Amino acid sequence: MSLDQKLADDLITAAIGAMGRAYAPYSKFPVGAAILDEDGAIHVGANVENAAYPVGNCAEASAIAAMIMAGKHKIMKIAVAGGDGKMLCTPCGACRQRIREFAALDTPVLICDPNGFRVQFSLETLLPESFGPEHLS
Ligand code: THU
Repeated sequence: MSLDQKLADDLITAAIGAMGRAYAPYSKFPVGAAILDEDGAIHVGANVENAAYPVGNCAEASAIAAMIMAGKHKIMKIAVAGGDGKMLCTPCGACRQRIREFAALDTPVLICDPNGFRVQFSLETLLPESFGPEHLS
């Protein structure tokens, strides 16, 4: 197995593990996310819902917060785990933009679920013609 494949496997395992920690009593749709940062460390997050529905957090937002609190600022790869493989659990629009803040356009976004389902997109595929930090520099 190549190092790249091993990193992808580790990231997917971490995202599926994080999915198990989701707090999703309202949607009953647990999501986990795992970020590989610029130094090879992994940061995880899960969705955290709230009785006041719009206040809930997505898994990607939680993982980004964990990365920032660890002092890291680059997403080299991100895995998102959710659903049952019948439909892709791709990041919502807001989370695509959240990822965009810290990732290059060719960053791999791995979508997976606990049943072995996997598919990979680049960030640019998910968020074409995007607006990012360089627009403000
Ligand atoms: N969810 C995420 O955590 N990430 C996404 O990108 C898509 C949606 C969560 C939000 C909510 O807790 C549940 O999935 C159902 O929408």
